[in-house]
Amino acid sequence: MKVRVPLVLLGCGRVGQALLEEAASLDLQFLGVLDSTGGVVDGGGIPQGRLSQLLSRKREGVALGELGVPGEGATSALLALLRERRGLLVDVTAADTRPFLFSALEAGWGVVLANKLPLVGPWEDFRRLSSVGYEATVGAGIPLITTLKALLGSGDEVHLIQGGLSGTLGFLLAEVERGEAFSQAVRRAMARGYTEPHPAEDLSGADLARKGLILARTLGLPLELEEVELEPLASPAGRGLPVEGFLQGLRAQDAELRRRLEGAKRRGLTLRYVVEVSSAGVRAGLREVDRKSPLARAQGVENVVVINTRRFKGHPLVLAGPGAGPASTCAGLLLDIFRLARTLGR
Ligand SMILES: NC(=O)c1ccc[n+]([C@@H]2O[C@H](COP(=O)([O-])OP(=O)(O)OC[C@H]3O[C@@H](n4cnc5c(N)ncnc54)[C@H](OP(=O)(O)O)[C@@H]3O)[C@@H](O)[C@H]2O)c1
Repeated sequence: MKVRVPLVLLGCGRVGQALLEEAASLDLQFLGVLDSTGGVVDGGGIPQGRLSQLLSRKREGVALGELGVPGEGATSALLALLRERRGLLVDVTAADTRPFLFSALEAGWGVVLANKLPLVGPWEDFRRLSSVGYEATVGAGIPLITTLKALLGSGDEVHLIQGGLSGTLGFLLAEVERGEAFSQAVRRAMARGYTEPHPAEDLSGADLARKGLILARTLGLPLELEEVELEPLASPAGRGLPVEGFLQGLRAQDAELRRRLEGAKRRGLTLRYVVEVSSAGVRAGLREVDRKSPLARAQGVENVVVINTRRFKGHPLVLAGPGAGPASTCAGLLLDIFRLARTLGR
């Protein structure tokens, strides 16, 4: 199968590079590749040899602005391209790209996102972005958004979504369950590269609040980010501390988490960090779950989502898989790229 619609790649970090790597085998055509410093825009299509060269230089640490047009020049070239051609804009930045996305949609482009930020602004902006593909934003390559839309589109009603949507937090709690102190488990997760450079980012739960909001909005609930009930695993204030100081401070939480876990164990349960979405709203925090439940059984950094609907009641629908990482995120992007290319190519 071939994608006959040309692409522009906004962002060329871990995920963007994974997509460029797939480009040759899938015969994807790119009209532009940009990072935060500028990039290459070519309405005639960037030849595969040039793309491979850009990818390998970028991997060596060279900015795309040095390999193509720097800064504002690249942005102007991209805006002109959006007016002159039609294609798919693939946003794999972590920036507020809404002005670009709105321009692209108005000019008849399709849009595919791994970037959550444009989807968690005001509800009205989410509505303006209703045609974009955003499978990769929650659960990476797990076809979660596709499944929810298929369920809703077939007249089912989604009553409750429970997601173990952070591989990092899932790993930490499984380690604590195995007897490790929480603060030590965080150090181990860091050493394995499972956390952001500053682990306070993961422990704040902020990314999970965004994912929960995206799921709720997919169900049609007009909620705002401030309305998400979020219980952080560590105080967001810790983000201001240097990493070592932050890790030292976490030791004060070891005993409290151990006490909560022992309490859950006495009831035959265990603790997991769960995002819950229902008509009552979005909540994210520590929950006691059955030790045999799919949420408790997630391995390593796996994501698990349990979906209760009018038709899937009693025996809920369960989706599981790698919910992060460039390859899995790229799989999610490709689901949307192929789907939207079919509609645009008609
Ligand atoms: N990694 C994952 O497992 C995963 C999973 C699901 C979703 N996501 C989401 O996917 C996105 C990308 O993740 P990543 O891991 O690839 O991040 P990353 O490695 O930090 O890459 C981000 C890229 O965006 C570029 N960028 C930033 N601002 C830009 C702007 N205004 N215009 C053009 N490019 C800009 C950066 O440019 P420079 O190279 O010049 O810095 C960089 O190339 C994020 O939104 C992330 O939340 C990631």
